[in-house]
Amino acid sequence: MNQETILIVGAAGNNGTAAIEALVNRNGSHIKVRAGVRSADKAAQLKTRFPAIEAVLFNLDEPATLKAAFAGVSKVYIIPGNVENRAQHAKNAIDAAVAAGTVRQVVLLSVVGAEWEAILFAKQFREAEKYLEASGLPWTHLRTIWFQDNFFGWADGIKNGTLYFGIRDGKLAPLNVKDIGEAASVILTTDGHTGKAYNLTGPELLSGNDIAAIFARVTGHAVDYVSPDENSTYESLTSAGWPVWQAKGLLELFEVFASNQAAVVTPDGEALLGRPLTRLEDYINANKEAFI
Ligand SMILES: NC(=O)c1ccc[n+]([C@@H]2O[C@H](COP(=O)([O-])OP(=O)(O)OC[C@H]3O[C@@H](n4cnc5c(N)ncnc54)[C@H](OP(=O)(O)O)[C@@H]3O)[C@@H](O)[C@H]2O)c1
Repeated sequence: MNQETILIVGAAGNNGTAAIEALVNRNGSHIKVRAGVRSADKAAQLKTRFPAIEAVLFNLDEPATLKAAFAGVSKVYIIPGNVENRAQHAKNAIDAAVAAGTVRQVVLLSVVGAEWEAILFAKQFREAEKYLEASGLPWTHLRTIWFQDNFFGWADGIKNGTLYFGIRDGKLAPLNVKDIGEAASVILTTDGHTGKAYNLTGPELLSGNDIAAIFARVTGHAVDYVSPDENSTYESLTSAGWPVWQAKGLLELFEVFASNQAAVVTPDGEALLGRPLTRLEDYINANKEAFI
């Protein structure tokens, strides 16, 4: 069997490494994973962790650097970075995939609700989705929701006994990043995914009180839930170094959660993986040192 090359764009990040791990675990000899990163250090780190992969360097802000990385590639997984111009990054990668002439599937990591274009994050990802749909390349959107890993950013408050999380009485279904990587690996290595948008959520809807109770059970100390107002959340995000665009985007997302507009558990992840997705409590339990 011919080896096919799967290029991962954004390979050094959380979702990139989760996808590489899943692809490496899933496959024998018929695929080659090519990790697209922007620094030699990160290329070396990935090669140490996953010796069988190739690593290629490019910068998504500089389209001319993409050509060599896309040469001979048959499938691409685009993971746009956490940057304001991520739609343009995705467009540059899609242009490079078209120019390569060998690409017959592009999977784009996106967000649940992108199709509504109601908030900044949805608009950014939908712009990339639309560009991909118009590119002529066979596409699959992998729409994701609030990552379980995000709670590491709330660890200081949790350690001190309070989850400050501005979603009032709303609910959400936090999603495990390794599960996303596994879903991506299934889509990239099996047939029947062209022209589909998968909506991945975690397996259970949780309120702020539910999440605080999980942290209390796992850490063994009291964790209260407090939903701060928008100004307080904005102040704490920006003073922690969040860029203004991203802090404003998160406030919009919190409002979506607070008003239960994203209070959904979808079946797509379980259908792709053939097993229930990871519960927040199991993930936190496996990482509890960070919250004690
Ligand atoms: N947090 C959530 O709940 C959530 C939910 C849904 C979607 N998302 C979005 O999903 C996406 C992936 O998330 P993630 O956690 O995997 O992100 P991540 O860990 O930040 O990974 C993104 C990767 O993109 C790379 N990148 C950024 N700018 C680049 C450039 N100019 N050229 C080449 N590579 C570049 C980064 O490279 P470096 O490693 O060199 O920095 C990084 O490895 C992000 O856009 C995120 O905002 C997040």
